[in-house]
Amino acid sequence: MHGKSILLIIGGGIAAYKCLDFIRRARERGAKVRCVLTRAAQEFVTPLSVAVLSEEPAFTELFDLKNETEIGHIRLSREADLIIVAPATANLLAKMAHGIADDLASTVILAGDKPVLAAPAMNWRMWTHPATRRNLAQLAVDGVRFVGPNEGGMACGEWGVGRMAEVDEIISAASAILREDAAARPAHQSGPTLRSKCTGDTAPQDGASSSGALTGRHVLVTAGPTYEPLDPVRFIGNRSSGKQGYAIAAAAARLGARVTLVAGPTALPDPKGVATVHVETARDMFDAVDAALPADIAVFAAAVADWRAAAVEAEKIKKGEDGPPQLRLVENPDILKTVASRGAGRPPLVIGFAAETGNAVALGSKKLASKGADWIVANDVSPERGIFGGDHNEVHVIRRDGVESWPSLSKDDVALRLMRAAAEHVSTSQRNASQREGNL
Ligand code: PMT
Repeated sequence: MHGKSILLIIGGGIAAYKCLDFIRRARERGAKVRCVLTRAAQEFVTPLSVAVLSEEPAFTELFDLKNETEIGHIRLSREADLIIVAPATANLLAKMAHGIADDLASTVILAGDKPVLAAPAMNWRMWTHPATRRNLAQLAVDGVRFVGPNEGGMACGEWGVGRMAEVDEIISAASAILREDAAARPAHQSGPTLRSKCTGDTAPQDGASSSGALTGRHVLVTAGPTYEPLDPVRFIGNRSSGKQGYAIAAAAARLGARVTLVAGPTALPDPKGVATVHVETARDMFDAVDAALPADIAVFAAAVADWRAAAVEAEKIKKGEDGPPQLRLVENPDILKTVASRGAGRPPLVIGFAAETGNAVALGSKKLASKGADWIVANDVSPERGIFGGDHNEVHVIRRDGVESWPSLSKDDVALRLMRAAAEHVSTSQRNASQREGNL
């Protein structure tokens, strides 16, 4: 953080008090901190405390003649190395997702061209509301990074996910972004730059050139499991580790593609050079995929839960005297099938996976037809094969004109081979299409 300039946008939530400690701790680490307070934030912390701790004016008004002439809202955001939004309330996140600029805080965020780190804080019901999930998915696609929220007791007396991250966590997330940003920026570049819409480091991968078989293409990949909540603490999930999908995203980036990875809960670090959108449920994944389209190639490697609980209990389900509770399940949207059946806006190459415990080729071929995919990558995931969570995979690539069975390979090799084949397919299809047009 040393020598870096942080613009802290303080939102209107009880967690705003943590920002005072953040200012002190960031300054101890050598950062300059300037603060903008929303009107609601001023109900929780005063501009005076913020100004005293930051030793900078506290900015509150968009049309403040004195500050506009001295600094101006554009300079305020351009002079920062990092914009931190904390607490990022549901309202602030909604404004950011929709590009609304109706006060100083939202205007400087919109005018900014630097990385943005948001520390959400809100009641858990607001956090899980579909509108907030949609906004989060959009913001992640736009390159906004998140720290927290954490699970715990809330000011309203309820328990759940929605507590703002602790100051330590915000400091480490901010330091990591500043480090990444410095590494991604060429040494000679010092002025303000437009940051790519990417949550990862945008530098070319280890030795890979910035041009490759997928240069100029957008590849969308889903990976990992989805978690479908039953109550605030329990969920329905599966054993996918996300390794295969993450490897595909990394391989596509290595071949030069712009990659969006929509990932369910995994323990894996975000692949470098890939815009990673983190989601939890199948419906979140559906929204994030929809927000990330159009794409030239879409690969659906996620193990999406086919069903979710018809109703999510607001309180932890108690062990009662009436025996175990009866679960009623309803169907989740089929993301692959929906995308593959789109008319306009369908990616030219749609690749699905099929996780089977029987005859993978026969069952995968059925999925090719029922889901409307162009290719299905079928794998036998019987437990003794160790595919879920393992580092190797043995797949059958099923196309409409035949099946190719690959030997057991590392998931990285499966990914690279698949992405090379996909690159060749889209180039050939494009060439054939332009030849047909030329013949007309
Ligand atoms: O994550 P790893 O531990 O590395 O393991 C890799 C893997 C086994 C998860 C991966 O190789 C794999 O097989 N992924 C697909 C898992 C799956 O859910 O398959 P399925 O046969 O149930 O679904 C068929 C296809 O429809 C898949 O592309 C799936 O992403 C998609 N789908 C399914 C349901 C749904 N509601 N929406 C979907 O998009």
